[in-house]
Amino acid sequence: MSDAAAPTGTTGDDPKPEPADSKNAVSTGAEAEHRATDSAPPMISMRAVDKHFGKLHVLRDINLEVPRGQVVIVLGPSGSGKSTLCRTINRLEPIDTGSIAVDGVPLPAEGKALAALRADVGMVFQSFNLFAHKTILENVSLAPVKVRKIKKEQARTRAMELLERVGIANQADKYPAQLSGGQQQRVAIARALAMNPKVMLFDEPTSALDPEMVNEVLDVMVSLAKEGMTMLVGTHEMGFARRAGDRVLFMADGAIVEDTDPETFFTTPKSERAKDFLGKILSH
Ligand SMILES: Nc1ncnc2c1ncn2[C@@H]1O[C@H](COP(=O)(O)OP(=O)(O)O)[C@@H](O)[C@H]1O
Ligand SMILES: [Mg+2]
Repeated sequence: MSDAAAPTGTTGDDPKPEPADSKNAVSTGAEAEHRATDSAPPMISMRAVDKHFGKLHVLRDINLEVPRGQVVIVLGPSGSGKSTLCRTINRLEPIDTGSIAVDGVPLPAEGKALAALRADVGMVFQSFNLFAHKTILENVSLAPVKVRKIKKEQARTRAMELLERVGIANQADKYPAQLSGGQQQRVAIARALAMNPKVMLFDEPTSALDPEMVNEVLDVMVSLAKEGMTMLVGTHEMGFARRAGDRVLFMADGAIVEDTDPETFFTTPKSERAKDFLGKILSH
């Protein structure tokens, strides 16, 4: 009797939606699970990360997920842990507790796996760190040959493309000391890009530069950001932070005190520490 409605369903009511709906209801859990495994992991993931230098607690319970393509600006007073945070992500600094993963892969402790991970995470330092006795072209093509096992000719061609992109192809045969700071830092960016990294970390990339050279480096970084590179940038360049950043992390005493979008951070900082920091930095 209860199924009387079905056989007499000649009134134009489509019987199909019902079974389809009930099928959905049954499989919702499985589908959600399927979707979760399908979707890409965050490019950088840090969970409950703590680190000490001796008695100094330099990273305090850091929890951070950076999605693919996001540009994260790390701000904070000197000594707040910005560099250390950056350096733990490619394991230049080991951590005490917690976990870090890059593109879903937990950081390997050592060996070949660690070398491979480092190749995926490009890093640009305040002090360019170029090889003084190698030409600009060699600086950019060396690691792809040694680490990525790319053929020398191919690596050189790619290096020239990258030097072109950062605007210094005409300096390819010179040595680092023959270039200005801004040019050297652009070489350092090209060198990092030569490994086709998934993530680029910048630790105060313009702090050692004369003021007139800051913009040529920031311009390269802005174009990288526009192309969708995932970036974590420790910087004091507030204009850049507002222009290129998707997100601001404000650090104090090793902790992430604020985590918000640049506009909110600069216009309505919540913590006293951030207000104090902005007061000092924006007043000159
Ligand atoms: N290798 C180290 N050994 C001991 N202490 C360190 C070392 N590196 C950094 N520190 C200390 O850790 C704290 C955080 O430093 P850092 O990450 O460089 O901060 P920031 O980049 O924000 O200026 C500072 O107090 C600094 O003196
Ligand atoms: Mg630093």
